[in-house]
Amino acid sequence: MLNGKARAYTNIALIKYWGKEDPELILPKNNSLSLTLDGFFTETEVLFSKNFTQDVFYLDGMEQSRNATKKVSTFLDLVRKRANCPFFAVIHSHNHVPTAAGLASSASGLAALAGACNQALALNLSPKELSQLARRGSGSACRSIFGGFVEWERGHSDATSYAVPIDAQGWEKELAMVFVLINDQPKDISSREGMQRTVETSAFYPQWVEEAQTDLQLAKAAIQAHDFQKLGIAMEANGLKMHATTLAATPPFTYWSPDSLRAMTIVRTLRQEGIPCYFTMDAGPNVKILCQKKNVQAIQAALAASFAEKQIIAAYPGPGIQFVETEVTK
Ligand code: DP6
Repeated sequence: MLNGKARAYTNIALIKYWGKEDPELILPKNNSLSLTLDGFFTETEVLFSKNFTQDVFYLDGMEQSRNATKKVSTFLDLVRKRANCPFFAVIHSHNHVPTAAGLASSASGLAALAGACNQALALNLSPKELSQLARRGSGSACRSIFGGFVEWERGHSDATSYAVPIDAQGWEKELAMVFVLINDQPKDISSREGMQRTVETSAFYPQWVEEAQTDLQLAKAAIQAHDFQKLGIAMEANGLKMHATTLAATPPFTYWSPDSLRAMTIVRTLRQEGIPCYFTMDAGPNVKILCQKKNVQAIQAALAASFAEKQIIAAYPGPGIQFVETEVTK
Protein backbone atom coordinates (compact mmCIF):
# COMPACT_ATOMS: atom_id res chain seq x y z
CA MET A 1 0.00 0.00 0.00
CA LEU A 2 1.40 3.39 -0.99
CA ASN A 3 0.08 6.05 1.31
CA GLY A 4 1.04 9.45 2.66
CA LYS A 5 -0.47 12.25 4.68
CA ALA A 6 0.26 15.97 4.97
CA ARG A 7 -1.13 19.10 6.55
CA ALA A 8 -0.94 22.50 4.87
CA TYR A 9 -2.10 25.87 6.14
CA THR A 10 -3.96 28.46 4.18
CA ASN A 11 -2.21 31.59 2.99
CA ILE A 12 -3.61 35.03 2.22
CA ALA A 13 -1.97 37.13 -0.45
CA LEU A 14 -0.97 40.65 0.57
CA ILE A 15 0.15 41.24 -3.02
CA LYS A 16 -2.20 39.23 -5.22
CA TYR A 17 -1.71 36.61 -7.88
CA TRP A 18 -4.28 37.58 -10.48
CA GLY A 19 -3.84 36.24 -14.00
CA LYS A 20 -1.92 33.51 -15.76
CA GLU A 21 0.80 33.80 -18.36
CA ASP A 22 0.47 30.06 -19.02
CA PRO A 23 -2.81 28.43 -17.87
CA GLU A 24 -1.55 24.90 -18.57
CA LEU A 25 1.57 25.19 -16.39
CA ILE A 26 -0.02 27.77 -14.08
CA LEU A 27 2.66 30.38 -14.55
CA PRO A 28 1.42 33.74 -13.23
CA LYS A 29 1.66 37.15 -14.84
CA ASN A 30 3.15 38.71 -11.70
CA ASN A 31 4.97 37.79 -8.51
CA SER A 32 2.78 37.63 -5.42
CA LEU A 33 3.43 37.79 -1.67
CA SER A 34 1.49 36.09 1.09
CA LEU A 35 1.28 35.34 4.77
CA THR A 36 0.66 31.73 5.82
CA LEU A 37 -1.79 31.53 8.73
CA ASP A 38 -2.30 29.09 11.55
CA GLY A 39 -6.08 29.36 11.70
CA PHE A 40 -7.18 27.21 8.79
CA PHE A 41 -5.60 24.09 7.41
CA THR A 42 -6.26 21.04 5.28
CA GLU A 43 -5.13 17.55 6.18
CA THR A 44 -5.04 15.10 3.31
CA GLU A 45 -4.28 11.41 3.10
CA VAL A 46 -3.73 9.69 -0.21
CA LEU A 47 -3.63 6.00 -0.90
CA PHE A 48 -2.53 4.52 -4.23
CA SER A 49 -3.36 0.90 -4.96
CA LYS A 50 -3.46 -1.41 -7.94
CA ASN A 51 -6.86 -2.57 -6.69
CA PHE A 52 -8.57 0.79 -7.32
CA THR A 53 -10.43 1.27 -10.60
CA GLN A 54 -10.76 5.06 -10.40
CA ASP A 55 -9.75 8.03 -8.23
CA VAL A 56 -12.18 8.62 -5.36
CA PHE A 57 -12.11 11.88 -3.43
CA TYR A 58 -13.68 12.34 0.01
CA LEU A 59 -13.91 15.85 1.43
CA ASP A 60 -14.78 16.01 5.13
CA GLY A 61 -16.05 12.44 4.89
CA MET A 62 -18.30 13.01 1.87
CA GLU A 63 -17.59 11.37 -1.46
CA GLN A 64 -17.27 14.09 -4.10
CA SER A 65 -18.86 14.11 -7.56
CA ARG A 66 -16.86 13.15 -10.66
CA ASN A 67 -16.77 16.82 -11.53
CA ALA A 68 -15.36 17.88 -8.15
CA THR A 69 -12.83 15.04 -8.38
CA LYS A 70 -11.55 16.21 -11.78
CA LYS A 71 -9.14 18.87 -10.46
CA VAL A 72 -7.70 16.32 -8.04
CA SER A 73 -7.43 13.61 -10.72
CA THR A 74 -5.72 15.95 -13.16
CA PHE A 75 -3.18 16.73 -10.47
CA LEU A 76 -2.75 13.04 -9.63
CA ASP A 77 -2.08 12.32 -13.33
CA LEU A 78 0.90 14.65 -13.13
CA VAL A 79 2.18 12.92 -10.03
CA ARG A 80 1.61 9.44 -11.48
CA LYS A 81 3.59 10.37 -14.55
CA ARG A 82 6.42 11.77 -12.47
CA ALA A 83 6.57 8.70 -10.20
CA ASN A 84 5.90 6.25 -12.99
CA CYS A 85 3.02 4.88 -10.96
CA PRO A 86 -0.05 3.56 -12.82
CA PHE A 87 -2.36 3.22 -9.80
CA PHE A 88 -5.56 5.10 -9.02
CA ALA A 89 -5.95 6.66 -5.58
CA VAL A 90 -8.38 7.25 -2.74
CA ILE A 91 -8.04 10.68 -1.17
CA HIS A 92 -9.38 11.71 2.22
CA SER A 93 -9.22 15.44 2.82
CA HIS A 94 -10.35 17.40 5.88
CA ASN A 95 -10.64 21.15 6.00
CA HIS A 96 -10.12 22.50 9.49
CA VAL A 97 -11.86 25.80 9.90
CA PRO A 98 -13.31 27.14 13.15
CA THR A 99 -16.91 27.21 11.90
CA ALA A 100 -18.65 26.60 8.59
CA ALA A 101 -16.61 29.53 7.41
CA GLY A 102 -16.63 29.19 3.65
CA LEU A 103 -12.88 29.43 3.76
CA ALA A 104 -12.12 26.02 2.31
CA SER A 105 -9.18 27.01 0.27
CA SER A 106 -7.61 25.54 -2.82
CA ALA A 107 -4.24 26.80 -1.53
CA SER A 108 -4.14 24.59 1.56
CA GLY A 109 -5.99 21.78 -0.22
CA LEU A 110 -3.67 21.37 -3.17
CA ALA A 111 -0.55 21.97 -1.07
CA ALA A 112 -1.60 19.19 1.32
CA LEU A 113 -2.36 16.89 -1.62
CA ALA A 114 1.06 17.55 -3.15
CA GLY A 115 2.68 16.80 0.21
CA ALA A 116 0.69 13.59 0.69
CA CYS A 117 1.64 12.38 -2.82
CA ASN A 118 5.29 13.21 -2.17
CA GLN A 119 5.10 11.00 0.88
CA ALA A 120 3.07 8.17 -0.65
CA LEU A 121 5.20 7.76 -3.75
CA ALA A 122 8.52 8.55 -2.04
CA LEU A 123 9.20 11.38 -4.48
CA ASN A 124 11.66 12.95 -2.02
CA LEU A 125 10.99 16.43 -3.32
CA SER A 126 12.79 19.41 -1.81
CA PRO A 127 10.54 22.23 -0.51
CA LYS A 128 11.24 24.14 -3.73
CA GLU A 129 10.25 21.16 -5.88
CA LEU A 130 7.17 20.59 -3.76
CA SER A 131 6.21 24.22 -4.30
CA GLN A 132 6.57 23.77 -8.08
CA LEU A 133 4.40 20.66 -7.93
CA ALA A 134 1.70 22.25 -5.73
CA ARG A 135 1.58 25.19 -8.17
CA ARG A 136 0.37 22.83 -10.90
CA GLY A 137 -2.69 22.04 -8.75
CA SER A 138 -3.54 25.62 -7.85
CA GLY A 139 -1.28 28.65 -8.19
CA SER A 140 -1.70 29.94 -4.65
CA ALA A 141 -0.94 26.44 -3.27
CA CYS A 142 2.76 26.87 -4.08
CA ARG A 143 2.95 29.50 -1.31
CA SER A 144 1.44 27.22 1.36
CA ILE A 145 4.54 25.01 1.33
CA PHE A 146 6.24 27.65 3.48
CA GLY A 147 5.33 29.43 6.71
CA GLY A 148 5.25 33.17 7.47
CA PHE A 149 5.83 35.63 4.63
CA VAL A 150 6.28 33.98 1.24
CA GLU A 151 6.97 35.26 -2.26
CA TRP A 152 5.93 33.35 -5.37
CA GLU A 153 8.49 34.10 -8.04
CA ARG A 154 6.62 33.95 -11.31
CA GLY A 155 9.50 32.52 -13.31
CA HIS A 156 9.21 31.77 -17.00
CA SER A 157 9.01 27.97 -17.08
CA ASP A 158 7.80 25.04 -14.99
CA ALA A 159 11.18 24.78 -13.28
CA THR A 160 11.58 28.47 -12.46
CA SER A 161 8.14 29.27 -11.00
CA TYR A 162 7.95 28.53 -7.27
CA ALA A 163 7.58 30.14 -3.88
CA VAL A 164 10.36 31.13 -1.49
CA PRO A 165 10.10 32.11 2.17
CA ILE A 166 10.88 35.72 3.10
CA ASP A 167 12.92 36.07 6.25
CA ALA A 168 11.32 38.78 8.39
CA GLN A 169 13.50 37.95 11.42
CA GLY A 170 10.43 36.84 13.36
CA TRP A 171 8.64 40.17 12.89
CA GLU A 172 5.59 38.32 11.50
CA LYS A 173 4.92 37.04 15.03
CA GLU A 174 3.79 40.55 15.97
CA LEU A 175 1.09 40.47 13.30
CA ALA A 176 -2.38 38.98 12.95
CA MET A 177 -5.19 38.77 10.45
CA VAL A 178 -8.80 39.19 11.46
CA PHE A 179 -11.28 37.51 9.10
CA VAL A 180 -14.74 38.91 8.61
CA LEU A 181 -16.81 36.06 7.20
CA ILE A 182 -19.48 37.64 5.11
CA ASN A 183 -21.01 34.64 3.44
CA ASP A 184 -20.44 30.92 3.46
CA GLN A 185 -22.07 30.13 0.12
CA PRO A 186 -19.87 28.70 -2.65
CA LYS A 187 -18.59 31.60 -4.76
CA ASP A 188 -20.31 32.42 -8.05
CA ILE A 189 -17.17 33.02 -10.06
CA SER A 190 -14.13 30.98 -9.03
CA SER A 191 -10.77 32.72 -8.85
CA ARG A 192 -9.64 30.65 -11.85
CA GLU A 193 -12.57 31.82 -13.95
CA GLY A 194 -12.47 35.39 -12.64
CA MET A 195 -8.79 35.92 -13.37
CA GLN A 196 -9.11 34.41 -16.84
CA ARG A 197 -11.99 36.70 -17.74
CA THR A 198 -10.05 39.66 -16.42
CA VAL A 199 -6.86 38.83 -18.35
CA GLU A 200 -8.84 38.36 -21.55
CA THR A 201 -11.23 41.31 -21.36
CA SER A 202 -10.37 43.92 -18.72
CA ALA A 203 -9.11 47.24 -20.03
CA PHE A 204 -7.35 47.74 -16.69
CA TYR A 205 -5.46 44.44 -16.78
CA PRO A 206 -2.16 45.59 -18.36
CA GLN A 207 -1.96 48.34 -15.75
CA TRP A 208 -2.53 45.77 -12.99
CA VAL A 209 0.54 43.79 -14.01
CA GLU A 210 2.71 46.91 -13.86
CA GLU A 211 1.29 48.12 -10.56
CA ALA A 212 1.64 44.72 -8.93
CA GLN A 213 5.38 44.84 -9.50
CA THR A 214 5.72 48.19 -7.77
CA ASP A 215 3.42 47.13 -4.92
CA LEU A 216 5.48 44.00 -4.40
CA GLN A 217 8.70 46.01 -4.05
CA LEU A 218 7.00 48.34 -1.55
CA ALA A 219 5.70 45.39 0.48
CA LYS A 220 9.08 43.66 0.54
CA ALA A 221 10.86 46.84 1.63
CA ALA A 222 8.26 47.31 4.40
CA ILE A 223 8.80 43.75 5.62
CA GLN A 224 12.57 44.23 5.70
CA ALA A 225 12.12 47.51 7.62
CA HIS A 226 9.44 45.97 9.91
CA ASP A 227 7.25 48.93 8.95
CA PHE A 228 3.66 47.83 9.55
CA GLN A 229 2.02 50.93 8.17
CA LYS A 230 3.91 50.80 4.88
CA LEU A 231 3.10 47.12 4.49
CA GLY A 232 -0.58 47.72 5.19
CA ILE A 233 -0.81 50.62 2.75
CA ALA A 234 0.83 48.59 -0.04
CA MET A 235 -1.41 45.58 0.69
CA GLU A 236 -4.67 47.51 0.76
CA ALA A 237 -3.86 49.43 -2.41
CA ASN A 238 -2.89 46.25 -4.23
CA GLY A 239 -6.11 44.46 -3.28
CA LEU A 240 -8.22 47.41 -4.42
CA LYS A 241 -6.43 47.47 -7.77
CA MET A 242 -7.05 43.77 -8.27
CA HIS A 243 -10.74 44.22 -7.60
CA ALA A 244 -10.86 47.26 -9.88
CA THR A 245 -9.82 45.07 -12.82
CA THR A 246 -12.98 42.96 -12.44
CA LEU A 247 -15.24 46.01 -12.86
CA ALA A 248 -13.66 46.69 -16.24
CA ALA A 249 -14.05 43.09 -17.48
CA THR A 250 -16.65 41.95 -20.01
CA PRO A 251 -19.07 41.02 -18.62
CA PRO A 252 -18.13 43.01 -15.52
CA PHE A 253 -18.28 41.42 -12.09
CA THR A 254 -17.36 42.06 -8.49
CA TYR A 255 -16.71 39.92 -5.43
CA TRP A 256 -17.81 42.69 -3.09
CA SER A 257 -21.08 42.61 -1.19
CA PRO A 258 -22.70 45.39 0.86
CA ASP A 259 -21.29 43.75 4.00
CA SER A 260 -17.77 43.82 2.54
CA LEU A 261 -18.12 47.58 2.20
CA ARG A 262 -19.37 47.84 5.77
CA ALA A 263 -16.27 46.02 6.99
CA MET A 264 -14.01 48.32 4.92
CA THR A 265 -15.66 51.36 6.49
CA ILE A 266 -15.02 49.97 9.97
CA VAL A 267 -11.34 49.51 9.09
CA ARG A 268 -11.06 53.10 7.87
CA THR A 269 -12.77 54.40 11.00
CA LEU A 270 -10.43 52.37 13.22
CA ARG A 271 -7.48 53.94 11.42
CA GLN A 272 -8.87 57.42 12.03
CA GLU A 273 -9.12 56.48 15.70
CA GLY A 274 -5.44 55.60 15.74
CA ILE A 275 -5.53 51.82 15.31
CA PRO A 276 -3.47 50.88 12.28
CA CYS A 277 -5.22 48.12 10.31
CA TYR A 278 -5.72 47.42 6.62
CA PHE A 279 -8.07 45.24 4.57
CA THR A 280 -7.75 42.90 1.64
CA MET A 281 -10.18 40.64 -0.22
CA ASP A 282 -9.88 37.65 -2.51
CA ALA A 283 -12.32 35.97 -4.90
CA GLY A 284 -15.26 36.27 -2.51
CA PRO A 285 -16.96 38.75 -0.17
CA ASN A 286 -14.93 37.96 2.99
CA VAL A 287 -12.75 40.77 4.27
CA LYS A 288 -9.35 40.07 5.84
CA ILE A 289 -7.84 42.67 8.11
CA LEU A 290 -4.09 42.81 8.62
CA CYS A 291 -3.19 44.23 12.01
CA GLN A 292 -0.75 44.09 14.87
CA LYS A 293 -1.42 41.34 17.38
CA LYS A 294 -1.76 43.88 20.19
CA ASN A 295 -4.79 45.44 18.45
CA VAL A 296 -6.77 42.26 17.70
CA GLN A 297 -9.19 42.72 20.58
CA ALA A 298 -9.95 46.35 19.76
CA ILE A 299 -10.61 45.42 16.13
CA GLN A 300 -12.83 42.49 17.08
CA ALA A 301 -14.80 44.78 19.40
CA ALA A 302 -15.33 47.37 16.66
CA LEU A 303 -16.51 44.69 14.23
CA ALA A 304 -18.83 43.15 16.82
CA ALA A 305 -21.17 46.14 16.51
CA SER A 306 -21.97 45.10 12.93
CA PHE A 307 -21.15 41.41 12.65
CA ALA A 308 -21.97 38.29 14.69
CA GLU A 309 -19.26 36.85 16.89
CA LYS A 310 -18.96 33.73 14.76
CA GLN A 311 -18.28 35.88 11.69
CA ILE A 312 -15.12 37.33 13.25
CA ILE A 313 -12.08 35.09 13.47
CA ALA A 314 -8.51 36.02 14.33
CA ALA A 315 -5.62 34.08 12.79
CA TYR A 316 -1.89 34.34 13.33
CA PRO A 317 1.14 33.55 11.19
CA GLY A 318 1.50 29.81 10.74
CA PRO A 319 4.00 27.19 9.63
CA GLY A 320 4.74 25.55 6.31
CA ILE A 321 3.67 22.08 5.21
CA GLN A 322 3.89 19.25 7.70
CA PHE A 323 4.08 15.55 7.03
CA VAL A 324 1.87 13.44 9.22
CA GLU A 325 2.55 9.85 10.16
CA THR A 326 -0.02 7.36 8.97
CA GLU A 327 -0.88 3.95 10.37
CA VAL A 328 1.17 2.35 7.62
CA THR A 329 4.23 4.65 7.79
CA LYS A 330 4.44 4.50 11.62
C1 DP6 B 1 -7.55 36.07 -5.47
O1 DP6 B 1 -4.68 29.91 -6.71
O2 DP6 B 1 -7.19 29.76 -6.48
O3 DP6 B 1 -6.82 34.35 -4.01
O4 DP6 B 1 -4.22 28.94 -9.88
O5 DP6 B 1 -6.46 29.01 -10.94
O6 DP6 B 1 -6.09 27.56 -8.93
P1 DP6 B 1 -5.70 28.85 -9.67
O7 DP6 B 1 -6.16 30.08 -8.75
P2 DP6 B 1 -6.02 30.33 -7.18
O8 DP6 B 1 -6.12 31.93 -7.19
C2 DP6 B 1 -5.98 32.71 -6.04
C3 DP6 B 1 -6.33 34.12 -6.34
C4 DP6 B 1 -6.46 35.05 -5.17
C5 DP6 B 1 -5.16 35.83 -4.95
C6 DP6 B 1 -4.00 35.07 -4.36
O9 DP6 B 1 -4.20 34.14 -3.55
O10 DP6 B 1 -2.87 35.46 -4.67
